[in-house]
Amino acid sequence: MRTGTQIPPAQGKLLVLLPGLGAVSTTFIAGVEAVRQGRARPFGSLTQMQTIRLGRRSEHRNPLIRDFLPLARLEDLVFGAWDIFPDDAYEAALRAQVLDKNDLEPLEPFLRTIRPMPAAFDRQYVRRLDGPNVKQARSKWELAQMLREDIRRTLEETGAQRAVMIWCGSTEVHTHPAPCHQDLEAFERGLKNNDPAITPSQLYAYAAIQEGIPYANGAPNLSADIPALEALAEEKGVPIAGKDFKTGQTFLKTVIAPGLKARMLGVRGWFSTNILGNRDGAVLDDPGSFQAKEFTKSGVLSTILQPELYPELYGDLYHKVDINYYPPRGDAKESWDNIDIFGWMGYPMQIKVNFLCRDSILAAPVVLDLALFLDLAARAGLKGIQEWLSFYFKSPHVYAGHVPEHDLFIQHIRLKNTLRLLGGEEPVTHLSEDLDLYEVLR
Ligand SMILES: NC(=O)c1ccc[n+]([C@@H]2O[C@H](COP(=O)([O-])OP(=O)(O)OC[C@H]3O[C@@H](n4cnc5c(N)ncnc54)[C@H](O)[C@@H]3O)[C@@H](O)[C@H]2O)c1
Repeated sequence: MRTGTQIPPAQGKLLVLLPGLGAVSTTFIAGVEAVRQGRARPFGSLTQMQTIRLGRRSEHRNPLIRDFLPLARLEDLVFGAWDIFPDDAYEAALRAQVLDKNDLEPLEPFLRTIRPMPAAFDRQYVRRLDGPNVKQARSKWELAQMLREDIRRTLEETGAQRAVMIWCGSTEVHTHPAPCHQDLEAFERGLKNNDPAITPSQLYAYAAIQEGIPYANGAPNLSADIPALEALAEEKGVPIAGKDFKTGQTFLKTVIAPGLKARMLGVRGWFSTNILGNRDGAVLDDPGSFQAKEFTKSGVLSTILQPELYPELYGDLYHKVDINYYPPRGDAKESWDNIDIFGWMGYPMQIKVNFLCRDSILAAPVVLDLALFLDLAARAGLKGIQEWLSFYFKSPHVYAGHVPEHDLFIQHIRLKNTLRLLGGEEPVTHLSEDLDLYEVLR
């Protein structure tokens, strides 16, 4: 790992490659351009707005993260995308109905320049969608080679020096690791034999890693989190991360649950339901895709609350997650949580959370931060699974045998301490002001 001044500067353009040019991608691209034009502020983004404390609190060293580390600048970002629909980024943004027409109009000339390349797509994996902008090939191997050519061509056309890829495509059906996922040889044989266990998102992940490009998966489906691609990422020196952007309901869950546990308050039940009406919601209306989402949404509570350590408090927790497709709402999702908790002497209490969020408004800064941090990680010589980016995911991708961390605050400390190390500074233990006391006690 390179740190401090050893990390090469972010020279030249950074190409952000986006499989899927839907609500999240267009909101992300439009937002970056709006910030560049001075029309908006990048709220929600750590790379743009957050400071990082260095050394003791009393030293008052609190630079912005982007001034502390050599991150790519927004001015240097260029974009490439694939989608099964041929709409350019302006049309796709209008269709997604996340951003107001008034906000999109001044960005139209720029957004029109981003036209999706034909997708590597198969309805078998996203049953609720079908579109005309799709690659034709005899085998998955051929499709993967076409994606690699797309990447090289887009790098050339945009004049970018480096690239990252963030999967913002639809949620694919829930699948399990299969024999063809176990090592690279089996995977490449599977590509040539059209093994049904290899999904389109895995073709993109494979193409990116083969081209030396960091890859993150924003959706809940299995993608780069298979041994074959993990090993390839190590071999090629490529950082990878995933999966499923942590945004609305799950984000709040991983804020509230650590607080209840910190105060040793019990939880008997956690009922989470939500309505959403965008294209993502339509895809999730299919039981196969919903299963993938249900899986990543459900895992968070047990890892945070640790019922095996606290059976009295969390041993009987009933956790129910429900997603309902409700078209009138579009991207303006609404979620309700009913949390049945208990305290002193077992007396019951309830918490009700009603979050009227905007899914893509929460996801866009996550895409930006992931793009910039993955690019930084690559220049710092980090490779393989980047567990320090768990902060951004519902179901953090970790090395086999590691326990994923879901507590947002622990994830945040880990993220920032990794940034401190990358910047050549000491990690912060939050004990520094008490150190004199420790000396006395010793
Ligand atoms: N807050 C959030 O919005 C949030 C949070 C977590 C995860 N996600 C995930 O992010 C992804 C994108 O969300 P969205 O709201 O933008 O969805 P969306 O439906 O608006 O956009 C997804 C796009 O991907 C395209 N697509 C599907 N398969 C493809 C393929 N093989 N190649 C290229 N394009 C393909 C679709 O045509 C669609 O335009 C979804 O999987 C969603 O579950 C979103």
